[in-house]
Amino acid sequence: MHMTRRALVAGNWKMNGTKAALAELAALQAAMGRPECDVLLCPPATLVGAMAAQAGNIMVGGQDCHAAASGAHTGDIAAEMLADAGASAVILGHSERRADHFETSELVALKTQAAWRAGLLAVVCVGETETQRQTGAALETVGAQLAASLPDGATAANLVVAYEPVWAIGTGLVPTLADIGEMHAFMRGQLTNRFGSKIAQGVRLLYGGSVKAANAAEIFGVNDVDGALVGGASLKAADFAPIIAAA
Ligand code: PGA
Repeated sequence: MHMTRRALVAGNWKMNGTKAALAELAALQAAMGRPECDVLLCPPATLVGAMAAQAGNIMVGGQDCHAAASGAHTGDIAAEMLADAGASAVILGHSERRADHFETSELVALKTQAAWRAGLLAVVCVGETETQRQTGAALETVGAQLAASLPDGATAANLVVAYEPVWAIGTGLVPTLADIGEMHAFMRGQLTNRFGSKIAQGVRLLYGGSVKAANAAEIFGVNDVDGALVGGASLKAADFAPIIAAA
């Protein structure tokens, strides 16, 4: 954790939750009190409006958006629509979108521009596969993803980057703290080269992949880790609140 960057703990509900799950929002608010970090919850799009209406000091975000503001794109959601529903952020380029929907980094950059156009904070995800890690290509992979996924115009206020090794998502596997630290320092350096030191020092870098209450504190202790993007452990307030408390 860093002295000046305010930590962010983000929950990604993925394709989980119906209206009944909004009870977890109330339970989370009761459990976390006044957190010392920013908290973001990204439910399925169907719940963004209802959640935002009762979210209080919790930010609400989408999990994806289309690059266009409107048009003939059946099934898609515009960043402007998320903002209209009460969202203030959107996750972009999650590895499940990259894998299941063949999203390229170039498309992620267009979506990031769309998020900024709509005034949303973009949480852009990058991360290597297990093979890329094993063959020593993790830094190179993430460097290439960062370069192509981030448009010009990033600021500390409009961009968060989440490092999510694909092999650590939903598996219970986590990189060593040294490997997390190496990657986050590398990403900070890439951002510095691209956007300059002032912006790079302000952009928050999240770690994601099997973050739980049991490992959150040690991960938050790593240099250049400014919070977490949490999947499974964000679904229940009882699991998510201790992670928020650790930040
Ligand atoms: P996980 O998911 O916490 O369930 O591993 C993280 C993510 O995909 O954002």
